[in-house]
Amino acid sequence: MSVDASVQLIHWYDSNARVLPWRARAGERSNPYRVWLSEIMLQQTTVAHARPYFEAFTRRWPTVESLAAADEGDVMAAWAGLGYYARARNLVACARRVAGEHAGRFPDGEAGLLKLPGVGRYTAAAIAAIAFGRRAVVVDANVERVVSRLFAVKEPLPGARSALHALADSITPPERCGDFAQAMMDLGATVCTVRNPDCAICPIANGCEARREGAPDRYPIKAPKSARPRRQGNAYWLEHDRHVLLVRRPAKGMLGGMLGLPTGRWDDEAEPGEGAPAVAHWAEAGSVHHVFTHFALTLRLYCAEVGQRSADGMWWPVGEIGDAGLPTLFAKLAARGAAWQRAA
Ligand code: ADE
Repeated sequence: MSVDASVQLIHWYDSNARVLPWRARAGERSNPYRVWLSEIMLQQTTVAHARPYFEAFTRRWPTVESLAAADEGDVMAAWAGLGYYARARNLVACARRVAGEHAGRFPDGEAGLLKLPGVGRYTAAAIAAIAFGRRAVVVDANVERVVSRLFAVKEPLPGARSALHALADSITPPERCGDFAQAMMDLGATVCTVRNPDCAICPIANGCEARREGAPDRYPIKAPKSARPRRQGNAYWLEHDRHVLLVRRPAKGMLGGMLGLPTGRWDDEAEPGEGAPAVAHWAEAGSVHHVFTHFALTLRLYCAEVGQRSADGMWWPVGEIGDAGLPTLFAKLAARGAAWQRAA
């Protein structure tokens, strides 16, 4: 792609940019706190899914200082449903670092940003470019797809990652770098899509090798995935007096720091009843399947009602379970547990 083509892309962005709540409007200055928050939320999450979370977070915590002063449990609960919960803990740690050690101002270059908790290569580049107008090479999955098609990159992902980064570097202009990055993302999300690239309306179709070859959706080429391992275990819905037992998960490990139903181990050896929080007449209430990045999990749900609070944890009103901030896996199990109680 020639320099002219990156200018064409920015022109296209000037009239086709998606209106998104973290973007500065014409004449407005970028707000680094909003840019940082959006980029953390958008890792591994679609714009449509992240958007209401962004709006709720910025209503409740409009500045980095207010987020730094928040209770970590409140932030974890507000994050429930976004997944990858280590991001939420790093979010609080990062806000506290910026408020406490940087007088509330985000570092304005990649090197300083990279030192913050939860800020990796992608996020540092995105914040430097979008919030501070620095030249930085911003490569997410959308940008990888666009670049792999522009240059018809034959090497499969994930091995091609550094080659794609170098190619993205080669087309990143010296000016309006944040707009260029977001133009590439918007192009990937709305025109150069995974299955149906619409080359007829693409502003840079002229220079696209994959289009010349005739099958742009072939790219990016991906190495075959090995099958996800499967794990299983037991989860427990223990009720007393219209309250259900919830426990906070250990800080390290899957769904670390989040509230959930008690479970046993998640492995292939889990016996029925393993890990029960109390002695009770447990009734089986089906199972829930959930796919994490590195494994697929099936948890069998056991339900019981007891005459006293016979285990330690937080006894949450069943009628308000929707406000507990449960991650999706436990929200699915809780829906089953509540249905079991209604049927009993
Ligand atoms: N995905 C990640 N960051 C984004 C942004 N700033 N705009 C659109 N999509 C994105």
